[in-house]
Amino acid sequence: MKLAMFSAQPYDRRSFSEALAASGMQVDLVCHEARLVPETAVLADGADAVCVFVNDRLDAPTLDVLAAQGVRAVLLRCAGYNQLDAAAAAKHGLFVARVPAYSPEAVAEHALAMILTLNRHTHRAYARVREGNFSLEGLLGSTLHGKTAGIVGTGKIGLATARILRGFGCRVIAYDPMPSAAFAALGEAVALPKLLAESDIVSLHCPLTDATWHMLDAQALAQMKPGAMLVNTSRGGLVDTPAVIAALKSRHLGALAIDVYEQESEFFFHDHSSEIIEDDVLQRLMTFPNVLVTGHQGFFTQEALREIADTTLFNLECWRSAASCPNAIELPPAR
Ligand code: NAI
Repeated sequence: MKLAMFSAQPYDRRSFSEALAASGMQVDLVCHEARLVPETAVLADGADAVCVFVNDRLDAPTLDVLAAQGVRAVLLRCAGYNQLDAAAAAKHGLFVARVPAYSPEAVAEHALAMILTLNRHTHRAYARVREGNFSLEGLLGSTLHGKTAGIVGTGKIGLATARILRGFGCRVIAYDPMPSAAFAALGEAVALPKLLAESDIVSLHCPLTDATWHMLDAQALAQMKPGAMLVNTSRGGLVDTPAVIAALKSRHLGALAIDVYEQESEFFFHDHSSEIIEDDVLQRLMTFPNVLVTGHQGFFTQEALREIADTTLFNLECWRSAASCPNAIELPPAR
């Protein structure tokens, strides 16, 4: 069994090698640093399955090349699959599976790390103190206890975030078209306009779909409480970034924390520090003192990496042995 892994970073190689050794599975793992796009899909030549991550392309042209080379299974080592052309996958009879949950707490804790950083300006304090500047001017924060936090999406990560925020003494409210029953014990389910109007912190935890694309646009941002903080650890496309920049410039939006960015596939997971970054929107964002950008690291804990590797190998084994796979993505009927 040959498995071609795309967007493979050294930490992916390590976690998959460890998981393979522990599983005893006979898999010829070939790692490619390249992102999967139609032009790189030829690297999967001779592979039975490919293993891909969030910024790999699974559109029709890419799947056409993979299928033509004999690839029969696509294993996503992530939860979201907005990049998948399900009809094209069905047309080629591909098996597609994902890792639906890998330490939701890892992402929730990263969201909290970002909230606390912006709230108490620790990103600025860190740089200031290292230069021998111990002035507090400009570092005035606000106490999280007693504030209202609005959670958009009460799935695994939204719930984990809500639990932590409750621990900080926040009032937690949430919007979800299909609210999780477990949220009832944590706070009140409300409509999105009410959530936007009442929350001091709005944290996004819903998937990117046609319905959620740019759900935080100029109109939604205008409905937010003046001075509130927006946190996005889900998918960049949930937010209209130029509209967010306008809201920051007008001082209506008080702070922004993003671990994801709509055009992140051009930059994230790679070192561009010696290059000129041509994305003016991303560069403008990084000039604001009240904006924190991280490069899609919410999932990045030892525990989550191991869970991703174990679940991916489980999915591979399900497919290999023709067993039913709880993590398989349901595809439409082939046309
Ligand atoms: P989940 O599937 O457990 O929960 C998603 C929730 O969003 C569901 O309850 C669903 O009903 C709700 N939802 C759907 N449409 C909505 C809408 N229009 N408005 C509000 N809620 C809506 O997913 P999970 O595991 O909690 O992940 C959430 C997102 O986090 C994923 O879709 C993924 O994009 C992102 N993610 C980010 C990571 C990172 O490293 N930054 C790592 C893992 C996931």
